[in-house]
Amino acid sequence: MKNLLKMSDLSPAELTHILDVADQLKADCKAGRTAPLLAGKSVALLFSKASTRTRTSFEVGVYQMGGLGNYMNTAELQAGRGEPLRDTARVLGRYYDCAVWRTYRQRDLEELAELSGIPVINGLTDYAHPCQVLADLMTIRERRGTLAGLKLCFVGDGSNMANSLIVGGLLAGMQVSCVCPPGYRPAADVLMFAQKYGNAFHLTTDPAEGLRDADIVATAAWNTTAPGTAESEQRLRDFVGFQLTGRLLENAKPGALVLHCLPAHRGEEISTAVFEAHADEIFTEAENRLHVQKAVLAVLLLRSLGVFGTPTTAQTTPTPAVPVETAVPTETPTPTPTPKPEPTYEVVTADVSWADAEAAAEAKGGHLVVIDSAEKWTRVAQLADESGLTYVWIGLHRTDSGELAWVKDNVDPVYNWASGEPSVHDTNGAAEDYVLITRTNSGWYYNDCIGDPAGRYPQFYSGKIGYIIEIDP
Ligand code: CP
Repeated sequence: MKNLLKMSDLSPAELTHILDVADQLKADCKAGRTAPLLAGKSVALLFSKASTRTRTSFEVGVYQMGGLGNYMNTAELQAGRGEPLRDTARVLGRYYDCAVWRTYRQRDLEELAELSGIPVINGLTDYAHPCQVLADLMTIRERRGTLAGLKLCFVGDGSNMANSLIVGGLLAGMQVSCVCPPGYRPAADVLMFAQKYGNAFHLTTDPAEGLRDADIVATAAWNTTAPGTAESEQRLRDFVGFQLTGRLLENAKPGALVLHCLPAHRGEEISTAVFEAHADEIFTEAENRLHVQKAVLAVLLLRSLGVFGTPTTAQTTPTPAVPVETAVPTETPTPTPTPKPEPTYEVVTADVSWADAEAAAEAKGGHLVVIDSAEKWTRVAQLADESGLTYVWIGLHRTDSGELAWVKDNVDPVYNWASGEPSVHDTNGAAEDYVLITRTNSGWYYNDCIGDPAGRYPQFYSGKIGYIIEIDP
């Protein structure tokens, strides 16, 4: 995931990972612990429309993470006087590490992401509201303990919230029904996406049918145009019968959660009684914007900063010792190499520092596995995958020129992070011979240990941590 422009930017595993990180960050926040994950980093907070939750939750979130969040009303930038987006994007990309933008057209958001070159987060467009839906999913999982198998029903306008809830709910393994008046269907590409999920998705214009057996009912304001305008009057007519009332909710499961992304228009999309009866869920949902957006920032920025292993130095082809044309093969027969005996490996699941892992390995007559060949990497990745580890301590090997490195796949095998490049895993100022690698949806990467000088498991992640002992034959 390079950006968060829409829910379909996420794989199911990335979605779960963000929710896991958000849960951890929320727990840390409640316990008074806030790791400075964004220390020295700046986030542009661009708003072309009004906002309470999105603006303030990002401002507070970036502050809590030790970064700089700059709120900008885009009307007050030169962009508001006609400077093209493509120029604004190229400027901001040179100052900031990340940008959040609330705007109208999804295409504009995509252009910002393309031209700025920094991770961009959708703070609401006409098409999508992924931050809100991540908070909704976090709230549901918090309250119900799971997402998969639950039925989520959205009632309202088939615009940004519907689009993102449909995609997010389906990615999370939920049953999703969407209830919209005729003429207010979700976006065509979202319906095509949903079609792939077969019976897990249902679109209807009948609220009672859509709400049947729902575990969660969500709605959003559908009348945001100025009161008295022709469009507002038309919407008031078109949405008759779509208000979440106590009577309508009787179609859902008893005790169903009710979510509302806010601001609420009582008496339009939701009755005052239903709103107040479910205020605790709704305001927890609003609170979770803060935690889940911090998780999105952590995941996006730590990766873009190379923490997850962006190669920093390409390996160059070594110069042959003799000119190629003079390197004539000799007649000496090449001896058949004796196969090297395989080391044995032991996978250990334990949340320990690399120092403790190495001590444990030495006590068993081995050492932390060192990745010094593509074959070794394949073997180690397989062992880590089989044991379900998400984080693995490994040793680094020294190249012939004395640099610390690890080998990954057959592509660009040496990641030289020790010569002039920041040693991102190291919090003590000295490069260590160990690195924590992390399993992500797109493979294994090296990780860091921000916030924990002991080099232990970073508390803002979740998953199984361990190490692999290598015992030489
Ligand atoms: N739900 C939401 O995005 O709220 P704001 O419009 O206040 O940001």
